[in-house]
Amino acid sequence: MKVLIVSQSQKNIAVLRALIEGEGHMDVTVGGVEVLATAAQDAGPGFDLVLVDGLTEDAAGWNAIDRVTERHPQTQVIALAAEQTPELLRQAMRVGVREVLTPPVHKSQFHDTLQRIAQKASAAMQHSSRGRVIAFQACKGGSGATFLAANLASVLAHEHGKRVGLIDLNLQFGDAVLFVFDHLPRATIADVSRQIERLDASFLVASMVQVAPNFSVLAAPEDPDQAATVQAAHIDQIIKVAREAFDFVVLDLGRNIDSATIHALDHSDLVFPVLQETLPFLRDTKRMLKVYASLGYGEEKLKLVVNRFEKGGDITIDDVEKALGVHVARIIPNSYKAVAASVNQGVPVARLADHDVVSKALREMAEELVGAPAPGKQEGGWFRHVFKG
Ligand SMILES: Nc1ncnc2c1ncn2[C@@H]1O[C@H](COP(=O)(O)OP(=O)(O)OP(=O)(O)O)[C@@H](O)[C@H]1O
Ligand SMILES: [Mg+2]
Repeated sequence: MKVLIVSQSQKNIAVLRALIEGEGHMDVTVGGVEVLATAAQDAGPGFDLVLVDGLTEDAAGWNAIDRVTERHPQTQVIALAAEQTPELLRQAMRVGVREVLTPPVHKSQFHDTLQRIAQKASAAMQHSSRGRVIAFQACKGGSGATFLAANLASVLAHEHGKRVGLIDLNLQFGDAVLFVFDHLPRATIADVSRQIERLDASFLVASMVQVAPNFSVLAAPEDPDQAATVQAAHIDQIIKVAREAFDFVVLDLGRNIDSATIHALDHSDLVFPVLQETLPFLRDTKRMLKVYASLGYGEEKLKLVVNRFEKGGDITIDDVEKALGVHVARIIPNSYKAVAASVNQGVPVARLADHDVVSKALREMAEELVGAPAPGKQEGGWFRHVFKG
């Protein structure tokens, strides 16, 4: 934890440092109000905790505290004031100070204060930024699960402005990153697993490919041998941290029903099994549905997707529903040219072929998940229409 002590008194600094270090391993910085002012300008993640000693009603530090808490809402500020007047407490509250303590502060009192603050902060975090986890799984190889996962993730990020993390859990032969990005990733999920003790939101994001500031992809290992590095327990932790870092966590699952995949499925709020309308797909989908049933997943979690749909085919949607006994939640049309171009160039289809039927279907899917149309979509559509003549 990064802690800043702001004080003019060497004696108080020593007391506060001892209190903090009694709480475990801390990275402590000490300084005057000027350090607080610099911290307010800092573009980095900032301090976790700031202790401001010697505050009075007319202290110079109030403005600096105000700027720090505004810029870094996760920074927790504790003030120490010998005299707690109602005016001082009002000021403290106004600039976002969490607690005001009267010196001398005892070890147990300090410990309780930190516990209280940590609990409040984690409750606020869980409430405000618990992302949804949605998984795509191919009922049979080549169904289009990866294409749909990567392209839906892209629409959620680029058109809805959501923070999206795409995680490739097809550990042996994953290729999701290539659907939205045309370079090889520097790190993969195997690298994250090897350093799992370092895992937090910033380490996770730093290990991902940044397709856009709000769109990151955690790639699968390059070498299938490395898949074994990734344990089910790592996946639990990665998904937990990803939920904090993103509004939507999109998983591309492998077809193997191993413990890693089952953990990922369990964490998912929605699962989209992907199939096409031919007999071999129906056969494998039946098997997959049996597995889902044995895991206890019901209709509220499973949303069947028929991909590459062609009107007038031998097998209709009605036939699919009758054969499987499950409602088809979404239909994605077949569009060979646009999809092949997107896949070959590593550019999401909605960005490459704005008006394509697949782009349209993906937008409908994103809109349903978000529960609202993409902001500015109306104006954008009209604008594009006029200028394209
Ligand atoms: N709606 C579509 N229209 C046309 N082609 C599509 C469509 N969806 C997917 N495809 C094509 O199908 C190919 C296979 O898709 P994808 O790799 O996503 O399948 P998958 O289910 O992830 O397969 P795997 O089991 O290999 O992981 C893609 O490269 C793409 O060219
Ligand atoms: Mg795939």
